[in-house]
Amino acid sequence: LSEPRIIVLMIPAGPPVDLVINSLSDILAEDDLVIDAGNSDFHDTIRRFKEMSSTGLRFMGVGISGGKTGARFGPSIMVGGNHDDWLRIQPIFEAISAKHLDDRCAYYMGQTGAGHMVKSIHNGIEYADMQMISEIYGIMRDGLGMTAAQISGAFSSFNEGSLESYLIEISAEISGALDEVTGRPVLDVIQDTAGQKGTGRWASIEALNVGVPATTISAAVCARMLSSQKYERTKIEAIYGSAPQRVGGELVDMETMRKALMAGKVLCYAQGFELITRVAQEHKLEVRLPDVARVWRSGCIIRSKFLDKIVDAVEKHPNQSILMAPHFVALLSQCQEALRTLVATALQNGWSVPALSAAVSYFDAMRTGRSTANMIQAQRDYFGAHGFERVDRNGQNFHGPW
Ligand code: 6PG
Repeated sequence: LSEPRIIVLMIPAGPPVDLVINSLSDILAEDDLVIDAGNSDFHDTIRRFKEMSSTGLRFMGVGISGGKTGARFGPSIMVGGNHDDWLRIQPIFEAISAKHLDDRCAYYMGQTGAGHMVKSIHNGIEYADMQMISEIYGIMRDGLGMTAAQISGAFSSFNEGSLESYLIEISAEISGALDEVTGRPVLDVIQDTAGQKGTGRWASIEALNVGVPATTISAAVCARMLSSQKYERTKIEAIYGSAPQRVGGELVDMETMRKALMAGKVLCYAQGFELITRVAQEHKLEVRLPDVARVWRSGCIIRSKFLDKIVDAVEKHPNQSILMAPHFVALLSQCQEALRTLVATALQNGWSVPALSAAVSYFDAMRTGRSTANMIQAQRDYFGAHGFERVDRNGQNFHGPW
């Protein structure tokens, strides 16, 4: 390699990255550039950036999304590091990236860990998107008794409208796929315990760290953890009886489910973009939200038609929740009743919908000007004399008559 060299790593996150970087340090020369293109925790990337910079070496953390199809035909590439290093690799990454119309899905996200931070929140949104789809699948399978072919057809019909996305598309194909060994629907022979390498979980942890109520992402992470408790679930089901109740097919129609998914998606993305904004502020990363929405429009796992509307919303209203953007106000006004109806029906019939119910509760909480947190403040002051603000006077540290 002619100097200054560019070295791209795609290895498992954590100590292996440090091991490989250390093994390279003896042969690297000033201005050589090492790019970590794995799923690293952005906190590690910020640390590595500082360590490498202190020795005159250059380092970038790049989040790449798209799975094996992305590897073959072009992924979404979220780049973090020095902007002048981005200019060095831009032609290469734009050439190999996924394309959206005449746009290339390789974007500079910001300094140091910005690329890996955006990727981990991409994965948090991915978890929530996947969880909501699996909840709708559960309603179709357990509640309505739909066949694999009917479920596949339903998801295919969802994919023809504003819900068009990679995850809906593959869920339609997966639902209709048959197992080569038994000839049964392949979903029926797959164990119901979800794995997680951890990237989506990092988004949930980061939300708690910076104080963003990313309730749909956290609900999805918890749902994966709960699914791993197969033994306990089987035992408790035997004690209390199975939760999901079968109902007549007319109780929930396809349009209700489509609208509920749409509303859940809007609320999940609103949380995800708020999280990116807050984490970027916390770590002084200066991430441009329109570029985040643009880089996700093709190649990545959450790619969808919906992202074009997000680009418009965050472009026109950069400093406010997408929930206040006119397009999403109209969309949520059309769809929120369906989400509410579906969640209510699910609760009445034992259909577990943690992410969809987190979405509707988040929406309602964000529409409640006078919440019940005054009771929390009173309790804290009662047992801990922590003090509270009053609605009728200025000041921080009033106490109750207890
Ligand atoms: C992507 C995917 C990928 C992810 C794996 C496993 O954007 O291409 O998100 O990066 O790490 O699919 O993810 P989990 O094990 O966390 O589900």
